[in-house]
Amino acid sequence: RGASVDDILDRLCATVEDYPKPGITFKDLTPVFADPEGFRVIVHALTEPFAGQFDLVAGVEARGFLLAAAAAFATGTGVITVRKKGKLPRRTISEDYALEYGTATLEVHEEDIPRGTRVLLLDDVLATGGTLSAATRLMERTGAHVAGIGVVLELTGLHGRAALAGHRVRSLQRIA
Ligand code: PRP
Repeated sequence: RGASVDDILDRLCATVEDYPKPGITFKDLTPVFADPEGFRVIVHALTEPFAGQFDLVAGVEARGFLLAAAAAFATGTGVITVRKKGKLPRRTISEDYALEYGTATLEVHEEDIPRGTRVLLLDDVLATGGTLSAATRLMERTGAHVAGIGVVLELTGLHGRAALAGHRVRSLQRIA
């Protein structure tokens, strides 16, 4: 029997104090991605609750790309990149979301997502939920159905799950 998701995250997820600024504690998943068993276990755990329920996996720039690409490859589905503004060359649709100061914008290529497609949306961390909420709105505007939302870490104190009400959200670990 291999390691559990909790074992993997407890052993490999790094905690960085005062990053990106004083008073913030940053959870760094790069050691999990760099570990062969760790990467396999978390990608499997993100897709398994939604097995057979999605046709495409969408990942949010940047760390979500790694998870979405691996999940799509492992499940024989396609991958969509939900990108920061200005990176996609063809016709896009955009959604803004709030940052601590100001706003940011996510975009997708509208024509890459056929109407009625069932999409699994993945990212590394759910914090305020602003990012995944914007990504969800993008998917729905294309006529896709958000079959589920998966994240590795959920920072419960920021109530991101409330921003995603009405969707099936699966987080692999909750951090107070
Ligand atoms: C981080 C993280 C999520 C988002 C979560 O991305 O990877 O995408 O923040 O925050 P939220 O729930 O409050 O919206 P970041 O904006 O740092 O972008 P990056 O992955 O490109 O560094």
